[in-house]
Amino acid sequence: MPTVKLSDTAVNDAVLVVGLAKKDGRSFSLVIESGDITLDTKSLLSALKDMAATGNPDEVIKLPGNSVRLLVFTGLGKKKATYSHETLRRAAGAASRSLHGNISATFSLPTPDLDSVGAVAEGAALGAYSFVTFMGSTKSDHSKPISKITVHTSFAKTKGAKAIAKRSEVIATFSHLVRDLVNTPPSHLNPISFVEIIKKEIAGAGGSKSGLKVSVLDEKQLRAQGYGGITGVGQGSANPPRLLHISYSPANPKGSYALVGKGITFDSGGLNLKPGLGMQAMKSDMGGAAAICAVTLAIATLKLPVGIEAWAPLAENMVSDTATRPGDIVTIYGGKTVEVLNPDAEGRLVLADALVRAVEVGHAGKPLHGIIDVATLTGAQGIALGTRTSAVMTNDDEFRQLFLSAADQSGESFWPMPLPQELRPSLDSPVADLANIGERLGGMLVAGLFLREFVPEGLPWLHLDIASPAYNEGAAHGYTSVGGTGVSLRSILTFVESLT
Ligand code: BES
Ligand code: MN
Ligand code: ZN
Repeated sequence: MPTVKLSDTAVNDAVLVVGLAKKDGRSFSLVIESGDITLDTKSLLSALKDMAATGNPDEVIKLPGNSVRLLVFTGLGKKKATYSHETLRRAAGAASRSLHGNISATFSLPTPDLDSVGAVAEGAALGAYSFVTFMGSTKSDHSKPISKITVHTSFAKTKGAKAIAKRSEVIATFSHLVRDLVNTPPSHLNPISFVEIIKKEIAGAGGSKSGLKVSVLDEKQLRAQGYGGITGVGQGSANPPRLLHISYSPANPKGSYALVGKGITFDSGGLNLKPGLGMQAMKSDMGGAAAICAVTLAIATLKLPVGIEAWAPLAENMVSDTATRPGDIVTIYGGKTVEVLNPDAEGRLVLADALVRAVEVGHAGKPLHGIIDVATLTGAQGIALGTRTSAVMTNDDEFRQLFLSAADQSGESFWPMPLPQELRPSLDSPVADLANIGERLGGMLVAGLFLREFVPEGLPWLHLDIASPAYNEGAAHGYTSVGGTGVSLRSILTFVESLT
C-alpha cells in the first residue's frame, strides 16, 4: 500500500508530477501548473508544444528533468483559478498510474487549501494500484505501482495535514481491498474464502481493540434460522453460502447505521443461465459486499464516532440439480414469501434476508438511524446511467440529499432515481407475498421497490445500485484502474464523516 506524506521543503525525489492546463483564448496555449514549485516554463512549454501536448485530462507526458530525473505533466483540462477536487484527484491518479515501475514520486499541483491537497494525495494513492496476483510466468513483466507518495504543499506543517495524509492512505488501502476482492475470480473467491479474507483484515485493523466484532452464519445456521433468500440462492452451488456480520462500536457514537452489501461471489444466472458475454463480469457481483466491509474497516481505522453494522449475505448463484427452479417459493427471514420466477434476480433475495436481520439487530440494542444497501443489482442500472454513474433510491429525500452531497464531495458520481408506485403491483404474485421480478421497463426501479418491501416505514433507507460502475470493463482512466473500482466506499466514508 502506498504511503503518503506532505512536504514543503525542496523536492528530493527522482520523479516530479506537475499539472498542465490549456488557456482559454483565441490561440491555443498551454500553462504549467506546478503549485509553488518554479520550473523553467519557457523551454518546457516549447518542448510540450513540439510534442503536440493538449493538457487534456488523462494526458500524461514525461520529460527528462534537470533537478529531478523525470518531469511528469498531467492534464488538468481548461485553465482555472481553482481546480475542482475531482479534477485534481483524476490528474494525480492518471500520473500515478503511468509511473508503475518507479518507487516514489512527488506531486506538486495547484492546491489552494488542505482539501485540495487531500484530493491530490487520494488520486495519487488510488492510481498506485495493480492486480498481478494471478500473473504466472509474466508476473515480472508487470512493474509495481509507486509506493511512496509525497505531496508538495505549503500546508505540510499546518494543523490537519497529518490527518489528511492518513485519510488518503486509508482510502487507498481499503479501496484497493475492494478492487482486489472484485478482481479475484470465483475459482479463488467464494463465500467461505471471502469471510476468511475479511476476518484477517479485521484482525489487521486491530479487531476488538478497534471496536470491531465479527460473526458468521454458515449454511446450516442460515437454514435453521429461516434465511430462505440466502439459502435458496446458494443451494445450487458446491460452495455454501454465508452471512457475514461486522459490528463497529466506538465510544459515544453519533448515530448508528447498518450497511448491507450484495455478496454474490459469482452470478451465473442460475437456471436462468446468463449468455456468455453477460457472465464475463459476474465475478464482480460481490462488489457491494466488498465495499461495505472495506468501508467499515476504513471507518474503524479512522476511529470515526459512528456505530456501523455491516451485513454481507454471501452466496454463489450456480446451476445444478439442487438450484432454485423458476417458480420455487422461498421464505425470507422474518416470514415474507417470494416466488422466484427468475433465479437470475438473486441479489434482491439475499439482500432481503440481510435487510430484515439488520433492522432486527439494530446497533448496541437500539434501533438504527438509517440503513444503506449497496448492490450490483441490475443490468438496467447501466442502461439508464452508463458505466460511471451509480443510482441512489430512497424512502427519505433528506437522507438521500445528505448522501448525495457527500458523494459529490468524494468525487463519486451518484444520481437520484425514483421508486414509482405504479411499478409496485408488477411484483405481485398469485401464490406468494411477492414475485422476485416485475415489469421489465424500469428494471432498476422495480428492484428498488422489491427491496423497499423489507425496510420498515419510517427508517431512512438508501439503495445504491452500483452494477456497472463497480467494474471497469473499459480502459483505465484518472485514478480508476481496469476491473474492480471500489465505488461507493468514498461516498459512504464521506457521508459518515459528515455526521461527526
Ligand atoms: N448481477 C446482476 C446484475 C448485473 C448486470 C450486474 C450487469 C452488473 C452488470 C443481477 O443479479 C441480475 O442478473 N439482474 C437481472 C435482473 C432481472 C432478471 C430482473 C438483470 O438485470 O438482468
Ligand atoms: Mn443475477
Ligand atoms: Zn447478481
